[in-house]
Amino acid sequence: MARLANILSVLGAALCVRAWGNLGHETVGFVAEQVPPDGHLQFLAPKAATFVHSTLNATWNFSLGPAAIWADQVKGEAAFKWSADLHFVDAEDSPMTGSCSVNEKRDCGDGECILTAIANYTTRVVNTKLPKEQILEALLFIDHFIGDIGQPLHVEAIEEGGNGISAKCSGESSTNLHAVWDTGMVTKHIDQSHGGTPQQYANDLVAEIKTGSFKSEAASWISCSSPTEPLSKRSPPGEILERELKALVNAHHSRAAEAITPLACPLVWAAESNAFDCSVVFDFTTGEDLCSGTYFAKAIPVIDLQLAKQGFRLAAWLNVLFDGATNLP
Ligand SMILES: *[C@@H]1O[C@H](CO)[C@@H](O)[C@H](O)[C@H]1NC(C)=O
Ligand SMILES: *[C@@H]1O[C@H](CO)[C@@H](O)[C@H](O)[C@H]1NC(C)=O
Ligand SMILES: *[C@@H]1O[C@H](CO)[C@@H](O)[C@H](O)[C@H]1NC(C)=O
Ligand SMILES: [Zn+2]
Repeated sequence: MARLANILSVLGAALCVRAWGNLGHETVGFVAEQVPPDGHLQFLAPKAATFVHSTLNATWNFSLGPAAIWADQVKGEAAFKWSADLHFVDAEDSPMTGSCSVNEKRDCGDGECILTAIANYTTRVVNTKLPKEQILEALLFIDHFIGDIGQPLHVEAIEEGGNGISAKCSGESSTNLHAVWDTGMVTKHIDQSHGGTPQQYANDLVAEIKTGSFKSEAASWISCSSPTEPLSKRSPPGEILERELKALVNAHHSRAAEAITPLACPLVWAAESNAFDCSVVFDFTTGEDLCSGTYFAKAIPVIDLQLAKQGFRLAAWLNVLFDGATNLP
């Protein structure tokens, strides 16, 4: 009996780690909303910022950073068990043989996955007929899921998104591939290169977006065009995102049914994350320490990029919903 309890608690622990760890989520939230010393908001537009600051109370320090971890804190509780499957989409592809893909019909189990969840909570966050706590819940979920969809192993079915693949990180050999991406590498990277805090890491990523290595590509992060589409065919940044968010919200207002319209933007974001499963995530040999050497060196630029992108996209999302336009550089 004791043995069974042990096994169950190990399984429980393994299931609990399906998410960027707290540091990654806080970084995404801080990128979206970070307030520099001069008091000027970075990416959140005025009405979105007002909504965020009045909806998140002192429990979250009025900030999308700390608030981003709530969805992970509650998913193990009985009252929120139903939400555990909303943190990912089980892409049934084959990254080991170089074939990556996401297909909403194929991969979004019973319509309950991160793709439908983002659409669901998007309609709910602006539904003023809902009670305040439900609107707060919707914001907390959006804050979290727009982070999770940028983690390559949240868009992968193999071994529960890598939870079942043992891995080694900084000499620690009892971890797994998913945890290494959620937490192991992010923690080491923040400690080594970003002053040990998600605030500092977010500041550094925002600087890359505003004036550094991400400056030239940031606008394309909100174009919602497939990266393989020729430039001439892509829509201007923000256009698809604005159009589809407005259509989603309007459709919802004029209809009683809870129909979930598939959204192009989250699907493009999921496909981008999933593509890293083919190029970087599964490219290691058994026993290799993933938090050092070549693997780490290749993974860190992916982590920087994905966290910066998702923070920027979170701001764009809230800006369209509350200010009517992406409002970003
Ligand atoms: C923040 O809001 C939640 C939900 O309404 C509530 O449970 C909590 O006590 C509040 N925290 C503070 C510090 O007001
Ligand atoms: C809360 O936010 C303030 C400034 O916005 C910051 O100085 C403080 O460190 C934060 N506290 C926590 C616990 O995150
Ligand atoms: C939509 O949100 C409601 C309220 O939290 C929840 O009961 C439902 O399961 C959600 N559906 C999806 C697909 O996220
Ligand atoms: Zn999560």
